[in-house]
Amino acid sequence: MILVDSVSKKYGQQHVLNDVSFRVKGGEFVSIVGSSGAGKTTLLYALIGAVKPDKGKITVDNYDVSSLGSGKIQEYRRRIGIVFQDYKLLPQKTVFENVAFALEVAGYDGRFINRRVADVLKITGMEEHRNNFPRELSGGERQRTAIARALVHAPELLFADEPTGNLDPENTIALAKLFQKINKSGTTIILATHDRDMIGLCNKRIITLDNGRLVSDKRNS
Ligand SMILES: Nc1ncnc2c1ncn2[C@@H]1O[C@H](COP(=O)(O)OP(=O)(O)OP(=O)(O)O)[C@@H](O)[C@H]1O
Ligand SMILES: [Mg+2]
Repeated sequence: MILVDSVSKKYGQQHVLNDVSFRVKGGEFVSIVGSSGAGKTTLLYALIGAVKPDKGKITVDNYDVSSLGSGKIQEYRRRIGIVFQDYKLLPQKTVFENVAFALEVAGYDGRFINRRVADVLKITGMEEHRNNFPRELSGGERQRTAIARALVHAPELLFADEPTGNLDPENTIALAKLFQKINKSGTTIILATHDRDMIGLCNKRIITLDNGRLVSDKRNS
C-alpha cells in the first residue's frame, strides 16, 4: 500500500509538487501522466526516497519514505525495483552480469543467481542476448535489460520513469505487454510517462499532474 498524503515540494519559488494526495493498493497498475515539467519524475523520486518533500508524508507498506534515514533507505530500495529513463547499465558488463550484479552485491550464492537471472531474462525476452554488452543492444533491448535488472530481486513494487523514451511504436507495444505481464504476476507498477501510445496501452488507472497539482485520477477497470 502506497499512501501519498498532501505532499508538496518547492524548487525556489516553483511548486513542483503541490498538495498531492493519492493511495495505491497492492497489485495496481498506475500511470502518472502530464506534460513535460508537470512533476512526474519528482513524484517518482519522492516515492523512492530520493527527494524529500517539504510538506506531507509518503508511506509505502511500513516505510515512512518521506523521512527515512540512509540505512533504512537502502533496506527500502532492496524491496522495490526502479527503471530509470537512461537505463544506467554498466557498459563493461554483459546483459547477464548487469542483471546479476545487484544479487552478487547482496551476497546471494552463484546457483541462486544463475537461476534467478535466467528467469528474468526469460520474462523480458533477453535470454539470447545474455552475453552481449550494452553497446551491442538496440534501445528496446537495453530497456528490457534495465527492466530485467529491476525485477531480479522479485520486488513487490516496480517504478519506471519514461521507459519508452527511446523506443519506436512497435517496441512501445511490446513493453506495455511486458508491464501487463509483470503486473498480472502480482507486482504493483507505478509508471511515469508522457508517451501517448504508452498511456493508451496502460490505461488501468491514470493520475494526471499539471504544474505539480494532481488534477485527475481515473480508473478504467
Ligand atoms: N533538482 C531540481 N532543482 C530545481 N528544479 C527542479 C529540480 N528537479 C526538477 N526541477 C523542476 O521541477 C519541475 C518538474 O520537473 P520533473 O522532472 O518532475 O518534471 P516531469 O514531469 O518529469 O517532466 P518530463 O516529462 O520532462 O520528464 C521542472 O520545472 C523542473 O525544472
Ligand atoms: Mg520526467
